[in-house]
Amino acid sequence: MTTHVLFVCLGNICRSPSAEGVFRTVAADLAPDLNLVIDSAGTSDWHVGDPPYAPMQRAAKARGHDLSRLRARQFQAEDFDRFDLIIGMDRDNLANMERLRPAGAQTPLHVFTEFAPETGMDHVPDPYYTRDFDQTLDLVEAASRGLVRYLQAGSRGA
Ligand code: 4NP
Repeated sequence: MTTHVLFVCLGNICRSPSAEGVFRTVAADLAPDLNLVIDSAGTSDWHVGDPPYAPMQRAAKARGHDLSRLRARQFQAEDFDRFDLIIGMDRDNLANMERLRPAGAQTPLHVFTEFAPETGMDHVPDPYYTRDFDQTLDLVEAASRGLVRYLQAGSRGA
């Protein structure tokens, strides 16, 4: 079984591409048997086609995550059907996606920090404004490990 996972933020140039890149390497390291398709998108169209923001790429690269080949795209209603798990970075992201939910689409939306309760955070702050790119990576790395555990627990016996 393949699980399709989509990470979503506002611009798709800081938090969600970091989540895509980090989760890809964390899942490959911790759970190489999981079959995953991993993608990211932004609720806005502001940066469509752009690579991740340069300071975000630099901070990620310093931890071994290469984001250079990713390109921003906008979240669309069809993503509700294409993905099993849709994970926003904050509640604004979730509200923006809910506005596009097709009638009958069941896919639940999550905030990424749900998978890292030990951080005490209820969202991933936007580093485009905070400039704290390492905080983003700390949260995304912790939540990626939690998401791997969640998927491993869910796939047992399935
Ligand atoms: P992201 O950060 O949602 O984590 O990609 C942002 C990037 C760009 C802008 C806002 C947030 N912007 O206003 O252009």
